[in-house]
Amino acid sequence: MDNRPIGFMDSGVGGLTAVKSLHQLLPDEKAIYIGDEARVPYGPRPTTEVVDFAIQMGDFLVSKNVKAIVIACNTATGASLPTLQARYNIPVIGVIQPGAEAALRTSNSKRIGVIATDGTIKSKIYSETIHKLDQNAFVKELACQDFVRIVEANQSKAPETESIVKKQLKQLEPDNLDTLILGCTHFPHLRSAIQTAVGEQVQLVDPGLQAVSDLKEQLQKTDGFVGQTVESEEYYTTANLEEFKTIADDLLGMNTNVQLAKID
Ligand code: SIN
Repeated sequence: MDNRPIGFMDSGVGGLTAVKSLHQLLPDEKAIYIGDEARVPYGPRPTTEVVDFAIQMGDFLVSKNVKAIVIACNTATGASLPTLQARYNIPVIGVIQPGAEAALRTSNSKRIGVIATDGTIKSKIYSETIHKLDQNAFVKELACQDFVRIVEANQSKAPETESIVKKQLKQLEPDNLDTLILGCTHFPHLRSAIQTAVGEQVQLVDPGLQAVSDLKEQLQKTDGFVGQTVESEEYYTTANLEEFKTIADDLLGMNTNVQLAKID
């Protein structure tokens, strides 16, 4: 039994989609979340800078006495997972390996698309991880950095968003794929527009959901679940408190307790 909360980090509001999965899969567990709104987006930034920011968020979560950390950001996972795993003596879970494994489990044809930020696509981390698991899989990757801006501007449900998403995803040639990895935790906010754009024959994989599912397995093995009702959740953002809270309340269907945090 371990009554400590679970830490989640992201560049902004994207990782809230992983917290939503926590609420669905482990409803008794509590999240402490940090979103780095002051420095979003991470996708176009150099890797060394993203590592520094991820360490600052990790140290912040550890100072809140979390029992595990989910790096609920694909760009930060790609840049910093081994660094954070070496730095802390609690489990640190990224989203890329769980996302790649889930895509291979989901796909019949092994023709898999990946959409993600500029940084994640440039690193080729998804195609390399998938090919380590199955060298014959076909992987088509596409950077969709602008989707992050749309989500952060709370425009996910705006009338023009569907056509912007459709136009961008045409480049993927989705008719040749049967599975698509949403390789940025912001993208499940656009799930409905993305599904419409690629067609119902393409199954969407959400790596944040898979990471939480892996976390559940890990807590099961170590008897790490909460044993009693614990204090309510805490959400922190490094800027844009009102905008962050609006998106968090809407996505999570609750009145989130959001506070400003200084981490640099
Ligand atoms: C971004 O900040 O560019 C998005 C981060 C991510 O989830 O990859």
